[in-house]
Amino acid sequence: MAEIYLARATTELGGARLTVVKQIRPELSGNEKFAEMLTVEAKLAARLNHANIVQVFDLGRHENVLFIAMEYVEGFDLNELLRRCARAHIPLPVDFALLIIMEALRGLSYAHRLVDDRGEAIGLVHRDVSPSNVLISFEGEVKLCDFGIARANDMADLLSDDVIKGKAGYMSPEQAFGEPLDARADLFAAGIVLWELLAGRKLYRAPKENEKPTLLDQARAAVIPDLPSRGLPDESVLNGIVRRALARNRDDRYASAQQMLRDLEQYVGQARLMASPIRFGEWLRENFEENVIALRRSRERAAKALQQGPAATVEPYGTPPPPPTLPPWNPPPSSNRPRTPLHNLVPTWRCTSPSGFSSASSSSASYGL
Ligand SMILES: Nc1ncnc2c1ncn2[C@@H]1O[C@H](COP(=O)(O)OP(=O)(O)O)[C@@H](O)[C@H]1O
Ligand SMILES: [Mg+2]
Repeated sequence: MAEIYLARATTELGGARLTVVKQIRPELSGNEKFAEMLTVEAKLAARLNHANIVQVFDLGRHENVLFIAMEYVEGFDLNELLRRCARAHIPLPVDFALLIIMEALRGLSYAHRLVDDRGEAIGLVHRDVSPSNVLISFEGEVKLCDFGIARANDMADLLSDDVIKGKAGYMSPEQAFGEPLDARADLFAAGIVLWELLAGRKLYRAPKENEKPTLLDQARAAVIPDLPSRGLPDESVLNGIVRRALARNRDDRYASAQQMLRDLEQYVGQARLMASPIRFGEWLRENFEENVIALRRSRERAAKALQQGPAATVEPYGTPPPPPTLPPWNPPPSSNRPRTPLHNLVPTWRCTSPSGFSSASSSSASYGL
């Protein structure tokens, strides 16, 4: 659906900050229905302001291509972290695994309770809680990204006549059947991530091409094997929490992220498996120091290369109330864009804004978010 870039937003006075720009594929950006859905959802996501959610700064359109600008989280996504742990033969300590889920639940709890200007519940559901959308910073923060994008993602799959891919591995049965969703679908997905962190493997088997059952078949059946014993204190309590999050019938699940969080907090307290983001950050930097340095170096190299980029302009999306000052945006021509590998991100262009993307509310004035 999109390409991800690392950009630098600079202000007139010389302030600069790294920003992730998600550029929606041109054929989707040009689809009116898709653009409308993405706008509605991204506007909701831009209202979210929480430590465990990646902040959306902007939704815009440049030469008919839609983009979303968001906070840059310097670190790994959970998939990448697990891959690196496996490669380095470093097991992820269980207290950190539980911390990741609890922090993600904090973000979910906040988003699920979001209300509109009249105080009525919006009923926001992430719909794609999966390891690639759980970002982990080298400071040990855990942030959910792509809030409000999943619905558009589903539509992108339909439009491109694509089958639902890896995402099905984290779907609740009701989502796999295409039923209307509520917050409990996200709890099921969080339950799968927790199950996998505890089991040290994927819950559903990834089938080869044309092999049955597909991930979607498995998500519909929702057969959850018992977790292997890890010799943890009060393991049956923890297993009970996972089982409840993964109940096939959503009425048997936790009713809210808060409830699941409360049970997990109680468990980590009694089992003495309490961890803090500070300790998690220390552990990450200790074990992946080389990655941190390499990431920063490649980013510096990319930033230097970008200083030569030619000027371009970013058009605001929608009709903003006051006439906006258009931020000049400087993508170099695609043929000579510097492509410095930077983890999963590809740094490409410099993004300059007179006001800078200073906060969700400041961008709402200029860009209609
Ligand atoms: N705000 C961000 N900060 C840092 N990395 C990000 C951010 N958003 C996305 N990424 C990285 O880019 C990857 C691809 O993101 P995305 O296009 O949403 O694909 P996916 O479908 O795998 O989630 C993510 O898994 C993550 O590693
Ligand atoms: Mg994503």
